[in-house]
Amino acid sequence: MLAIKGGKPVRDANMNPWPQWPVYGEKEKELLLEVLESGVWSYNGPKENDFIRLWKGYSDSEYALLVANGTVSLQIALEALDIGVGDEVIVPGITWQATTAAVLDINAVPVIVDVKPDTWCIDPEAAEQAVTSRTKAIIPVHLYGNMADMDAVMKIAVKHNLKVIEDASHKHGGEWRGRKAGSIGHIGSFSLQLSKILTAGEGGILTTSDQEIWIKLDALRNCGRRPTNIEIDKGAGQYGLEGDLIQSGNYRITEFQAAVLIAQLGRLEEQNTLREENARYLDDLLSKIPGISPMRNDDRETRKTYFNYAFRYDEKEWGIPIQTFREVLSKEIGFQVESCYQPLNDCTLYRPLTKRRYAINKEHLSAIDPSRFYLPVCERVYKHEAVTVAHRLLMGKKDDVQMIADAIKKILTYKAILVK
Ligand SMILES: Cc1ncc(COP(=O)(O)O)c(C=O)c1O
Repeated sequence: MLAIKGGKPVRDANMNPWPQWPVYGEKEKELLLEVLESGVWSYNGPKENDFIRLWKGYSDSEYALLVANGTVSLQIALEALDIGVGDEVIVPGITWQATTAAVLDINAVPVIVDVKPDTWCIDPEAAEQAVTSRTKAIIPVHLYGNMADMDAVMKIAVKHNLKVIEDASHKHGGEWRGRKAGSIGHIGSFSLQLSKILTAGEGGILTTSDQEIWIKLDALRNCGRRPTNIEIDKGAGQYGLEGDLIQSGNYRITEFQAAVLIAQLGRLEEQNTLREENARYLDDLLSKIPGISPMRNDDRETRKTYFNYAFRYDEKEWGIPIQTFREVLSKEIGFQVESCYQPLNDCTLYRPLTKRRYAINKEHLSAIDPSRFYLPVCERVYKHEAVTVAHRLLMGKKDDVQMIADAIKKILTYKAILVK
């Protein structure tokens, strides 16, 4: 019998808990204590410099910097590319609201486009159709287990002379044709918030291989100050960027976070490998269940990483509303199963018209009204197809993910009692 009807669940998470997140050990403790005792608690300290050096080596980018979170990182990225009032930036309809809110916060207009049905990442055709004379940039988001089609996005960018900011908040270590996520566009932006696969509780990383952009990013994260180290000074002179560079605020990170990140980065590759092996195994199991499809596996994604694990449910084939399916599955596996992010044309956490800051004029207000965007794929995916679980479910053994497939098969067996 199904757990929701009083039967024994496939996994009793009290007796057999899922792997925990975050993972930490002696290394984090040791580095945190070093920071505590050093008294160097703020920004530009030795731990921050160490992490940046490590991340540059890891991320295929020539420059990297740490910032307060993965929301302000996007805001600063847009500002470093000189995007602002009157400009349009193309974003996908399924992403965390920050991708789009960052565009609003610099007084530009987010133009929200539909996603591909098998990856839920930006649809390049929809993006190209949305290009106007005001378009300055595209922000592809590498969502959950998938990457946006970076070949297509870069082609559009070259054709229309647009900048590309990769929102790689879900993709630390992911690769597209051998290149690390975040290194393909002009700027890469990463969140380090607690749920992410590389975390310091909060935080963000920016990467670029363009020195001029890096100098601006560095000033923007630090109250507009001119970067202090000599190498940077030389670069600043070269671009005529002497003196304090640009009006900005404080978007810095602390040494405590940098300390945690150094230790966490040491675990990332092994964790990514484990998640990838388990995800591919689960993809295979799910592909054999009627009415269930794994997300697209594109050969160009040479390293798959997983923030949440996502798959698709065929509501018509099952004949059961997806909410019921998610509820029943949650009970069977002892873990809350979710949909994807709410589409941004009607998202409870994306309400641009509620803030006076954006009321620049009537034209701007109607341009930022999200309800003007028609996103049929996003809406269908969110309402009828999306099933996601947190990445920590991929961090155990094959038997653990097998239970997810077993639970779905069990629901299929007892389906009749759920059909109203
Ligand atoms: C795709 C995406 N972009 C941006 C962000 C914002 O990151 P943060 O929470 O660090 O501000 C997140 C975090 O949830 C995200 O998932």
